[in-house]
Amino acid sequence: MTQDSVLDALKNVTYPGFTKDIVAFGFVKDIKIEDANISVTFDITSSADEVKAQLITEATSELNKIGFSKVDIAIKAPEAPKQMSNSVSGKNIAPHVKNFVMVSSGKGGVGKSTTSVNIAIAMAMQGKKVGLLDADIYGPNIPRMMGVDGQKPQIEGNKVHPIKAYGVEIMSMGSLMEPGEALIWRGSMIMKAIEQFLRDILWSELDVLVIDMPPGTGDAQLSLAQSVPVTAGITVTTPQEVSLDDSRRSLNMFQKLHIPTAGIIENMSGFICPSCDEESDIFGMGTTEPVAKEYDTNVIARIPIEPAIRIGGDTGMPVTYHNPDSETAKRYQTAATNLLAFIDKVNAEGGADNSSVQPTTPPGVSACSTGASASTAPKKPEKTPTSDESCGTGCGCH
Ligand SMILES: Nc1ncnc2c1ncn2[C@@H]1O[C@H](COP(=O)(O)OP(=O)(O)O)[C@@H](O)[C@H]1O
Ligand SMILES: [Mg+2]
Repeated sequence: MTQDSVLDALKNVTYPGFTKDIVAFGFVKDIKIEDANISVTFDITSSADEVKAQLITEATSELNKIGFSKVDIAIKAPEAPKQMSNSVSGKNIAPHVKNFVMVSSGKGGVGKSTTSVNIAIAMAMQGKKVGLLDADIYGPNIPRMMGVDGQKPQIEGNKVHPIKAYGVEIMSMGSLMEPGEALIWRGSMIMKAIEQFLRDILWSELDVLVIDMPPGTGDAQLSLAQSVPVTAGITVTTPQEVSLDDSRRSLNMFQKLHIPTAGIIENMSGFICPSCDEESDIFGMGTTEPVAKEYDTNVIARIPIEPAIRIGGDTGMPVTYHNPDSETAKRYQTAATNLLAFIDKVNAEGGADNSSVQPTTPPGVSACSTGASASTAPKKPEKTPTSDESCGTGCGCH
């Protein structure tokens, strides 16, 4: 029996999953023949155990057929790639924050920021250490609503101290920009800014960081979910069908991003007339219940339209703090209680885990991005963007 007859026999062994044989692939190395004994080394590309086992079985059988009674096959395979730690246990670039709450909505103007502000304050009033991150980079309204408009944060090296109001730590792109200034950023820059908001802001050891998202389901949401394990997602909607359609997308996004869904806040649900305190139906009421059922979640609060909410937002005097006896303040308190109970439940069941939504491209670079990015702490662009940089929220694929 010669090397050639051995190679001929091994040509009958195809590489698992391919039509090509292992000789044609060039995997057969080091053939040593001694009477009826043979040892062969296969230098293969797969590290999968089942591939190795199948090759050994088939090759042994082929070599037995041509007369070898003792067959010894060694397989040289690459080491299994080491799992990155974040794809095993999830990634958290702000580990001193215990829980993250993503407040999202399908469309703008439904009361996402108002909800974020009032729920954050309500949780702080219930004794929790709370932060409020305004991740709505293009429409940062939190500083005005929290009454810290125009207040500049203290900078320490390349870190930024959050601003404090109503017992809540706050950070917003609005606090880092000049009033009225527009940001024209592409998707990868938004993603970078979200990461820096989490990593480079000197948040205390917070129980909860409430994150007011831009409307929709885009780069900011994905980047947040990949950077920290989001404990709870809340979607804010108004009761009209057109808004509900969009909130379904938002709920679907939570599922796709493996974010536990705390529930829906039905905002502008009925109207409380300031002169008579009576509640009447304007946009509809109770329409969110079936949507919540569809997504196996709950309506955690119904907040009516109340002029005090809008005034509180415009003047930086949130209703939950300044008008705690109002009906809406009570409902925000209930929403906060429900949210905290949900967070406890998620943690009791093992906590949130974002390992399955980790990027396959480097952090801050969207899969199809050309790689333009904001290089330092969230800050305004130094120059007017070039046409290449000015495509807004797109991912940069042209
Ligand atoms: N329940 C409510 N009653 C009265 N006004 C409200 C209510 N919710 C929100 N608003 C007002 O509606 C406007 C849009 O709300 P906002 O929170 O900025 O929405 P979003 O962040 O979703 O764009 C704001 O002026 C806010 O004060
Ligand atoms: Mg907003």
